[in-house]
Amino acid sequence: MRTSFTLLAVMPLALLAACAKEQATEEPAKEAAPAVAAEIQIDPVTGFKMTGDWELVRGNCIACHSAKLITQQRGTAQQWLAMIRWMQKKQNLWQFEPGTESRIIAYLSENYPPEAARRRAAIPPDLMPPNPYAQESTSLD
Ligand code: HEC
Repeated sequence: MRTSFTLLAVMPLALLAACAKEQATEEPAKEAAPAVAAEIQIDPVTGFKMTGDWELVRGNCIACHSAKLITQQRGTAQQWLAMIRWMQKKQNLWQFEPGTESRIIAYLSENYPPEAARRRAAIPPDLMPPNPYAQESTSLD
């Protein structure tokens, strides 16, 4: 009883697996995409990463200021939304359709998310140039 039950349970799986294998071999072998295609290209004009809704962002976000103000910035979706709300309140940025706005925010938060270390480490004091404003060096006598 037990064996036949197991067989009943396993047989369809085995059949499925066989079918899947056959299907897989029937499909024409896909050519491996060239390595460069995986890398995100940078738009030479704006500096935006050319992926997803980048053209929507280009269309809505560079009328008033350089795209660099955007590409140098990092933020979560919430932080990007806060920046947009601030511009709408203080800088005459227009209102977006809700769908447009969420696509813009998705592009920004996916491509310009917060990063751990954005500043270089501090230079050890003994490697710093002399400080001309330090007490001893400002003395003129
Ligand atoms: C109607 C004009 C206008 C448009 C369109 C606009 N902005 Fe701005 N934005 C401004 C102004 C003005 C500032 C302040 C510039 C400054 O500080 O020199 C600013 C500043 C910024 C900053 C810097 C914020 C900071 O804290 O330093 C970011 C990032 C930014 N905008 C992103 C965007 C994004 C993303 C869009 C598209 C959704 C956009 N902007 C569209 C007017 C605009």
